[in-house]
Amino acid sequence: MNCCHVPVPGKDGGRPPVTRAVARTFRALFWSLLLLPLHSALATADGRAIYEQDCAFCHGIRGEADTPAARVLDPPPRRFADPVEMAGLSDARLLKSIRDGRTNTAMGAWGRVLTGDQIRAVLAYVRRLQRPIPPGMTQAEFDIRVGQRLYRQYCVVCHGLHGRADTIVGRALPVSPRRFADRAAMAKLTDAEMFRAIAYGKPGTAMVPWRALLSPRDIRRLIAFIRSDFHYPVKAAGGSGKAAPARHR
Ligand code: HEC
Ligand code: HEC
Repeated sequence: MNCCHVPVPGKDGGRPPVTRAVARTFRALFWSLLLLPLHSALATADGRAIYEQDCAFCHGIRGEADTPAARVLDPPPRRFADPVEMAGLSDARLLKSIRDGRTNTAMGAWGRVLTGDQIRAVLAYVRRLQRPIPPGMTQAEFDIRVGQRLYRQYCVVCHGLHGRADTIVGRALPVSPRRFADRAAMAKLTDAEMFRAIAYGKPGTAMVPWRALLSPRDIRRLIAFIRSDFHYPVKAAGGSGKAAPARHR
């Protein structure tokens, strides 16, 4: 007589259904824990292979952009090894740049030949090429250096290299840009007011909101730079130095 199957505890696969489900979950968890690191190790290996084949020609094997090709390119390739240069660049921006390229530069649209996974893998490898903060430089000094770089990239055109708002654009604006070099006026402006102006802009003036482009951390770095450089010159230290204004957009 075998018409009706009645589950018998202790038989029937040994365990009641709930226990079986739990066991299944643990097995799945076990395998994913085992395979995850393996998967990411493979992804990094893959990223490195892609980098060395497709990117090192311009960006350099160690990400120093010190190749013969880099010397003749304008703008030059990014120096992935430089922590100051890379600090202001989000993953989202870099992914987009690798996928779509950068117009009017030698940086091509790799989305045509690489898959999404390969682009993420190569970006992970690019991040690993970054040198640590130079020895002897404090976090605060580093933040100011990043602020300097961001300032030269985004703010110089109106506020001027020395914070005097004496640029062609600055002079042509109906409401002139803030003169950061003016100590007396700057002493009355708090960090919180500066943060608000940078993040949300000043309506009715050329000072537009920057919060879509700059993280709160980068805005704080800009403020630190504006406060320090226009009042005491920033110590030149390592990497990109105090040389020319940033050539990347
Ligand atoms: C022919 C030279 C060349 C090759 C090859 C090349 N790049 Fe670039 N790359 C550049 C240049 C030049 C820039 C600077 C563009 C700019 O200033 O906007 C750049 C910029 C970048 C940036 C920063 C973009 C940004 O948002 O500022 C990333 C990330 C990047 N490249 C990744 C890669 C990766 C990954 C590869 C390989 C798959 C690669 N590049 C191959 C020349 C190259
Ligand atoms: C297109 C020109 C332009 C650019 C680019 C620009 N600014 Fe301004 N900025 C102005 C003008 C104009 C004002 C004066 C606004 C006012 O008086 O209300 C101003 C004012 C400011 C102020 C003072 C706000 C206040 O309450 O007085 C700060 C701080 C500031 N800008 C920071 C920045 C930073 C940081 C950047 C780069 C991320 C930047 N600006 C880029 C035009 C510009």
